[in-house]
Amino acid sequence: MNLILMGLPGAGKGTQAEKIVEKYQIPHISTGDMFRLAIKEGTDLGKKAKSFMDQGELVPDEVTIGIVRERLSKPDCDKGFLLDGFPRTIAQAEALENLLSDMGRSLQSVLHVDVPTEKLVDRLTGRRICPTCGATYHVDYNPPKVDGKCDHDGATLIQREDDRPETVTKRLEVNVEQAQPLIDFYHDKGYLVSVNGEQDIDAVFEDVDQILQTYA
Ligand code: AP5
Ligand code: ZN
Repeated sequence: MNLILMGLPGAGKGTQAEKIVEKYQIPHISTGDMFRLAIKEGTDLGKKAKSFMDQGELVPDEVTIGIVRERLSKPDCDKGFLLDGFPRTIAQAEALENLLSDMGRSLQSVLHVDVPTEKLVDRLTGRRICPTCGATYHVDYNPPKVDGKCDHDGATLIQREDDRPETVTKRLEVNVEQAQPLIDFYHDKGYLVSVNGEQDIDAVFEDVDQILQTYA
């Protein structure tokens, strides 16, 4: 299965991605996670990405396309992949098309997790993540079993740098502007499937899973 998961910041891409890759055993390729790891490790890529991410801006296309090209060429992608948060611009979508065609591959589906913008501030500012295993929680909608601690490894949960209220507003602004052209792009090609992301997490996954079962 060659899939794209798209949606505005906080729509639930990462949350659904965790469930999809567990069930369908395909690699989860999140450009956001790749940039955060590079920042943590202090690599050149991390240095390039950090200032953009801290300001809620998109990382330049050539940088982002480069890391996706490299990741998709790894052997574990032979069985399929789930792209999360990429593409986010038309230039990225066109680059991905060329990349896949060079590899003799094509997309199955673009799942769009659809949530109205006004619900997203709350989701982002209430998000907490595990610095050890990357699991995602929400203080109200998906709390850990023990307050402030990861269910999997007991690590103390933290807030993502870019989930501070001032950055959240900017991220939403930037992403809303990019979203519609991409939705139109994939709709016109017949790949787009929208899922109602306002439901609770398990109900969203039931809808996603029903769609994916038709490709498995
Ligand atoms: P990235 O890490 O991709 O962030 P994002 O797109 O802003 O998306 P998020 O990770 O914030 O949200 P999500 O949709 O995964 O939501 P989640 O499941 O966590 O990108 C970060 C930055 O990297 C970008 O700003 C940019 O600078 C750069 N970047 C990345 N990709 C790029 C690209 N292609 N081009 C250029 N730059 C790029 O859920 C959010 C919260 O809600 C959680 O707390 C969760 O528990 C809760 N929740 C989830 N689902 C539900 C539900 N159904 N009901 C209630 N609560 C829910
Ligand atoms: Zn953890």
